[in-house]
Amino acid sequence: MNQFDSQHLWHPYASLPPTYPNIVIDRADGVYLYTEDGRRMIDGMSSWWSAIHGYNHPKLNDAIHQQVDKMSHVMFGGLTHQPAIELGKLLLSIVPTGLDAIFYADSGSVSVEVALKMALQYQVANGKPLKNQFATTRSGYYGDTWHAMSVCDPVTGMHGLYGKQLPIQNFVKAPPMGFNQPLSANVKQNLTDFFTQNHQKLAGFIIEPIVQGAGGMRFYSPEYLQLLRKLCDDYNVLLIADEIATGFGRTGEMFACHHAQISPDIMTIGKALTGGYMTFASTLCTRHVAKIIRHSDYPALMHGPTFMGNPLACSVAKASVELIIANDIPSKARHIQKLLQQYLASAFNLSEVADVRCLGAIGVIELQQVIDMPKFQKLLLESDIWVRPFGKLVYIMPPLIITDDQLEHLCTTLVDLLIDYFN
Ligand SMILES: Cc1ncc(COP(=O)(O)O)c(C=O)c1O
Repeated sequence: MNQFDSQHLWHPYASLPPTYPNIVIDRADGVYLYTEDGRRMIDGMSSWWSAIHGYNHPKLNDAIHQQVDKMSHVMFGGLTHQPAIELGKLLLSIVPTGLDAIFYADSGSVSVEVALKMALQYQVANGKPLKNQFATTRSGYYGDTWHAMSVCDPVTGMHGLYGKQLPIQNFVKAPPMGFNQPLSANVKQNLTDFFTQNHQKLAGFIIEPIVQGAGGMRFYSPEYLQLLRKLCDDYNVLLIADEIATGFGRTGEMFACHHAQISPDIMTIGKALTGGYMTFASTLCTRHVAKIIRHSDYPALMHGPTFMGNPLACSVAKASVELIIANDIPSKARHIQKLLQQYLASAFNLSEVADVRCLGAIGVIELQQVIDMPKFQKLLLESDIWVRPFGKLVYIMPPLIITDDQLEHLCTTLVDLLIDYFN
């Protein structure tokens, strides 16, 4: 614990001073985080989905070093550069088919804002200004900026406090849990009815494909996405897929939309885009969406952050995507899924555990009760792993370079820690 930190620095979703101390990290390498007091912890979080290649990766370090000596930043208004162009070409070679135009944004939340603005501009440009609201499912999470908050789950989405000030959106029930669960006739009918009744006011439907992350670590059927794609097509509602957490192989496919063989009209990516090196994200859309906006009374997309297309971020993102392709990260995630299922299975024996579920390189232990974080963090300090539960969820999504032995150690230590916690 650091006194200055505790007294002066706010941390994510935390009070100041915090209710339990933050661990001081000195350096990180591979899958390990090294604390200032000399401990080494296996990182089970990939720094919130981002550090997929582990820390201090020579290829990513090299990309940053090379670029910083040339040009660390230049404005993107009226200027362009090779790092942005090369990253763009690479991204278009791996994203779901049809996505063709890229907006470089500063963070995941901002890329969601851009996606929503893009959808609104599209509908206005298309002569449908009354299609100016958004729909989404319950249990979603899309970030912490204003419009992004408005589509997060209104009750569990961490933003209930701001409720009355946020734009009112349209919510359907969360997709039923179960990646392999066929969709019931009832669910199909409810979603269809929702579109029939509301489509006239809807600019877009935003969803996290296959995995609802911070809203509950819920996995759902690709069939749901397929139905959503069809309904969006039928009713001229833009499908916005938020792949900020799921993108770049984490779920066992390059993008989670690939599980359903669908392409969204607009897609957001972030987190693992730079391998966790820098804050950076993108909003992509189809040529059709870009064209409709272009041929309208307001042909410019009205967003343009100061650090848009930052060359350092583009360079490290390009190096990260190259590693993702070269190391076939999606198949690595499928391998990790099998091991997670095996190593976390013993958690089922604990009566305090409600569910254990795994998809790709994501392992989730859902408890019956909300976790007592100060108590858990105290036990964590005595272990050599790093995890960060929230609510009833204890989950891991390790860097994808993790070895089988390291993964076994992470999982068995986590289950042992839970046993201690409950005793
Ligand atoms: C699905 C999803 N969308 C958006 C965001 C917001 O991204 P950022 O924290 O980079 O603003 C997150 C972050 O957890 C996320 O998981």
